[in-house]
Amino acid sequence: MTYQIRIAGTDLHFACEGNQNILDAALKAGIEMPYSCRKGVCGNCAGAVFAGEVECPPPGEVTPSGKHLFCQCHPKSDLEIEPEAWHRVDPNARKTFTVKVFRNTLAAEDVNVLQLRLPAGQRARFKAGQYLQVALSDGSRRSYSMANPPHESDMLQLHIRHVAGGQFTQIVPNLKAGDHLQVELPYGSFELKEEAQGPMLCVVGGTGFAPVKSLLDDMLKKGMKRRVTLVWGGRNRAGLYLMPAVEKWKKMLPGFNFIAALEDPADAASLGGFLGRVDDAVRANCPSLAGHEVYCCGSPGMVASVKKVCVEERGLDAHHFFSDVFVPGPAA
Ligand code: FES
Repeated sequence: MTYQIRIAGTDLHFACEGNQNILDAALKAGIEMPYSCRKGVCGNCAGAVFAGEVECPPPGEVTPSGKHLFCQCHPKSDLEIEPEAWHRVDPNARKTFTVKVFRNTLAAEDVNVLQLRLPAGQRARFKAGQYLQVALSDGSRRSYSMANPPHESDMLQLHIRHVAGGQFTQIVPNLKAGDHLQVELPYGSFELKEEAQGPMLCVVGGTGFAPVKSLLDDMLKKGMKRRVTLVWGGRNRAGLYLMPAVEKWKKMLPGFNFIAALEDPADAASLGGFLGRVDDAVRANCPSLAGHEVYCCGSPGMVASVKKVCVEERGLDAHHFFSDVFVPGPAA
């Protein structure tokens, strides 16, 4: 059965099948709402249901504030909803490419930096911060953020952390120049709010660095001048696997400040960084985040801890906390 879903306060509506989740139906209709994991973990897709009946399989279907996770809910009647934000996008903008590996580097003991080349004459269109899906031979998919900025549109750079037993990450170290992969992009609503002027705090763990690298390289290309603090967390110095990029931003981005948050005391000291987790680094280095935007990428637990510090302890407007949550396993 097909239901109509209307966005409250507008005459915008879209169709959703009874067995389809609300987020998928909206995206298919070219209405972009905030989302990241599509697995009911990150909470980014939460919104209100003002009228109608929804079915939400537990767990995590309703947030503590009584909002529904649109990536998990199905309509049981026509609905009136209010997402956190929405805007129209071209539903045909997402494309599939057969790309060729041209470089594969072991950047840390558990991270490969994979560089892919698009077919001659083709260009990838995406916004800094978005991600792609890699199609695997069994039909499943894996999600990875683009680490290159959008203007480098004839290639794609992915930072792939090895996951124990991970179906794709097991084969990544063996990929060699000339191998082919099939990818589809763009996905995701994690992107720079270009109209904002205030200072930015970027907080990333491990390969959560990838989408923020794309954001900062994009800012550099566009000559944007905002104060930026980057907190990058890892076990040790080797985990900060692309420090040349950080050194470049120190030189070329006005008002750029870097904080390494490391668990290894010797490495934290040698880098003049913070000994401990990224949320504690934020607590120690950011007395107030009023007027800031925060861009945070990493595991669900890490992102939740950072959000708590920023919003509950440092005065950040919760609407100015943007996150990309990395959940291992097949893409939803
Ligand atoms: S919880 Fe719905 S997108 Fe993450």
